[in-house]
Amino acid sequence: MLILAIETSCDETAVAVVKDGRQVLSNVVLSQVEVHAVFGGVVPEIASRRHVEAIAGLTVEALRKAGIDKSELDAVAVTVAPGLIGALLAGLSFAKAYAFGLGIPLIPVHHHMGHIAANYIAFPELAPPFCCLIVSGGHTIFADVPSYDKAEVLGQSRDDAAGEAFDKIARSLGLPYPGGKELDKLACQADPHAPSLSFPRPKFDDAPLDVSFSGLKTAVINFLHNQNQKGKTVDLPLLSRSLHEAIIDMLVPRALEAAKSRGRKALAVAGGVAANSHLRAAFAKRAEEEGMSLYLPPLWLCGDNAAMIGCAGFYAFQNGVVADLSQNAQAVAPLS
Ligand code: KG4
Ligand code: ZN
Repeated sequence: MLILAIETSCDETAVAVVKDGRQVLSNVVLSQVEVHAVFGGVVPEIASRRHVEAIAGLTVEALRKAGIDKSELDAVAVTVAPGLIGALLAGLSFAKAYAFGLGIPLIPVHHHMGHIAANYIAFPELAPPFCCLIVSGGHTIFADVPSYDKAEVLGQSRDDAAGEAFDKIARSLGLPYPGGKELDKLACQADPHAPSLSFPRPKFDDAPLDVSFSGLKTAVINFLHNQNQKGKTVDLPLLSRSLHEAIIDMLVPRALEAAKSRGRKALAVAGGVAANSHLRAAFAKRAEEEGMSLYLPPLWLCGDNAAMIGCAGFYAFQNGVVADLSQNAQAVAPLS
């Protein structure tokens, strides 16, 4: 089955051709990062317009790279939620028209089911059940994945996502957007012998798998202001390493706990922040200690892409999910 997949939930216009769920024939991603960097974050209206401008050309390119004609396509899969509403609508409207024009099914895909499915592309042996930490710019979710078409939220961030905390702290340090990658590099330069700075790691007694990053973000930004007011220079690599330690302490034990709570033997990580080198190393170490099989997708499958939407769309279609032309997009949509 050949699926044309479209992803426009945020600031990447992405189109892919995926065969039988896991074979990526082409995957093109046009990042708008440079356009938004001058504003220090994504400007939704600009994102929508850029998607509209880029989507048709990228689709032609994706088909050409895959070496197929559009008449060979069996379905169109598209991200319908969650995300920036205008951005989602740009991709959805195009996907509807394309599917209607070709007379083939339209498959609606939840963005986070896509992030989870990135692991199916990377690891042919991976099959549900397993647990997955989805950690991106917009969400931090500990999910159980009992089957290809289902996911259950076991815990999540009550406020900012981990990626959002990285990006906002990076912005206050004057680092370019998106700041997660820059902070990752900065932390690598920290003196391994320097004692870490102490930042909060909140816990919720009523929901041990929930996390919160807003207090951490404020603590780091307040620390920076205080040091500046005192005329002290801040050891930025050390600050970044300490920030990473706090985020890792909040994510890694909970992800393992989530998997153990459901008796799962495998744990996957997904989303843009899954590209973080320190988080990956911490997961590798802890998973080995705990005897948990760990799945960390390659970097090209961590950030937003359409290949993962094609894969999730394939499994959704297998389970009878199709949309008609009344399909709408949703800015907020629970995963469970
Ligand atoms: O999954 P994604 O591409 O888009 C969303 O669905 O949000 O994730 C983007 C997020 C941004 O916050 C970005 O700073 C973060 O992923 N990110 C990283 C790294 N690479 C991207 N965060 C930490 N370390 C990285 N190496
Ligand atoms: Zn994403």
